[in-house]
Amino acid sequence: MNVAVRYYSRSGNTQKVADYIAEAAGVSAVSVDSKDAALTEKVDVLFIGGALYAYGIDDNLKKYLNTLSSDKVGKAVVFSTSWLSKHALDVIRKALTEKGITVESETLYFKSKAVESCKEETLRFARKYV
Ligand SMILES: Cc1cc2nc3c(=O)[nH]c(=O)nc-3n(C[C@H](O)[C@H](O)[C@H](O)COP(=O)(O)O)c2cc1C
Repeated sequence: MNVAVRYYSRSGNTQKVADYIAEAAGVSAVSVDSKDAALTEKVDVLFIGGALYAYGIDDNLKKYLNTLSSDKVGKAVVFSTSWLSKHALDVIRKALTEKGITVESETLYFKSKAVESCKEETLRFARKYV
């Protein structure tokens, strides 16, 4: 199975979750603003995550979501961190759905302060999809 992990993280919380997902999947997590972020071949599962900043997602993530297409992504699995709100999950899901990409109904979310202890839950979650 071909799996990719992409994320955008300003202060490291979402990156930590991305890295644990990548560990479970045996791949590297790649920031969406990296030169390696583009999907060069079709992936069966794309884990894609970002945080909420003042009710929206970062422009880097918005731009990246816009580059994706259903011929490159079998299914997307969305994850996020924030202080309190899960709204980024909905924003990311909407952007993917508008691209015709199938999005797994289950999502992974942690409050920022819970990220320190999220490793086991994240590994368990990710292993369901890889
Ligand atoms: C400028 C700014 C605005 C934020 N706005 C929200 C918000 O509206 N709702 C919320 O729940 N968290 C908000 N947060 C908290 C972040 O979503 C949270 O710290 C998240 O874990 C950051 O992820 P990152 O470390 O991957 O960048 C905000 C943080 C910053 C810095």
